[in-house]
Amino acid sequence: MRVTIQQIKEMKEQGKIIPMLTAYDYTTARMIDETGVPLILVGDSLGMVVLGYESTIPVTMEEMLHHTKAVVRGTKQALVVGDMPFMTYHTDMAQALTNAARFIQEAGCQAIKLEGGVTVADKVKRIIECGIPVMGHIGLTPQSINQLGGYKVQGKTSGAAQQLLDDARALEEAGVFSIVLECVPAGLSELITKKVNVPTIGIGCGPWCDGQVQVISDILGLLGDFVPKHAKQYVKLEEMIKGAIDTYVSEIQAGTFPTQKESFTMDKSVLKELK
Ligand code: KIV
Repeated sequence: MRVTIQQIKEMKEQGKIIPMLTAYDYTTARMIDETGVPLILVGDSLGMVVLGYESTIPVTMEEMLHHTKAVVRGTKQALVVGDMPFMTYHTDMAQALTNAARFIQEAGCQAIKLEGGVTVADKVKRIIECGIPVMGHIGLTPQSINQLGGYKVQGKTSGAAQQLLDDARALEEAGVFSIVLECVPAGLSELITKKVNVPTIGIGCGPWCDGQVQVISDILGLLGDFVPKHAKQYVKLEEMIKGAIDTYVSEIQAGTFPTQKESFTMDKSVLKELK
């Protein structure tokens, strides 16, 4: 049985911290799922950490659907959230509903996430009325990076902090089952977490949110030495993978791999006939 949005909301009520990780492919999703992480986000960070784009802006619906399908295939218990890409829910209501539905119907995930607060609340409400659970995302919203002027901490002035509170309340009223807070000062994240009844899931928001989310490539050390301030590298997989590749190349060049053990045999008489 997959985790439900009701169970995620109950975790806040019960004071249980909600872990969430991103995944973009079948193999990684399967590993995360088997550890029991309840929420997996197929983030549009896909564009930067998997597809090599400079930002999340070029990511398309087709790319998101392709990767969300793979993540869904790799999971049995986690609730999978598909991230709606840049400008796929802004043009008008019909566009927002059609694209949200594609995530559920074609990709098979159980919820969608979109960026914005007050300005997208009407779309969020309608999507939810159509039976599609929505996760909000406020604070640093990478799809608006050109408007924000860079990847900066948000909500530091009283006006900006009040706006974030208003955004969180607007999303709660629209019916979201959770809200991602990204790069918001810890004290303000704590305040927002106390003021809304839906779970907040922080990244770069300190320890007092109801849950935490990280980009899987950051915590596994898959992006070289670069570790964002909000992340922690739990393992240096890139180093380990490169080491394994070096050993493989050395062994095939030295003739120590493959050996008999990794080879197949056939009837000697058939081979003799051919010779
Ligand atoms: O795209 C993403 O991975 C995200 C998370 C960082 C929350 O939006």
